[in-house]
Amino acid sequence: MAETSDLMRICPVDDVQAESPLRIIIGDEPIALVKTADGEVHAIGDRCSHGDISLAEGFVEGCTLECWAHGSKFDLTTGRPLTLPAYEPVPVYHVQVVDGDIYINPRGEIVTEEA
Ligand code: FES
Repeated sequence: MAETSDLMRICPVDDVQAESPLRIIIGDEPIALVKTADGEVHAIGDRCSHGDISLAEGFVEGCTLECWAHGSKFDLTTGRPLTLPAYEPVPVYHVQVVDGDIYINPRGEIVTEEA
C-alpha cells in the first residue's frame, strides 16, 4: 500500500493529458506536472535553470521536457538538463498515483549525483 502521509493530493490522473504539461503552484513553488505518452507522471520545478521561463510551456518528448526559450531538455526523472544552455538541475518532486489520484511530495529535491 502506498504511503501518502508526506504527499499532497493534486488531481485525478485522468485530468492530465499526456504530453500537455500543467503548471501547478504548491506554496510559492511552481511545479511542472507531466504525464508522458506511456502514462508515467512526473513533477519537476517549473522554472528553467537558465532563465525565468515556465518549463510547463515547453515540449514533452519521451521522458524529457524541453524549454521553449533556448531548447534545453530536462530529464523528468532527475531534473538534470541533458542539453545546453542550461547546466543546473531543477528540483524533482516524488509522485505517486494512488487510486487514480496524483499525489506529490511538496518538498522537491535537487539530484546532483548519478544514481
Ligand atoms: S530559458 Fe530555458 S533554456 Fe534558456
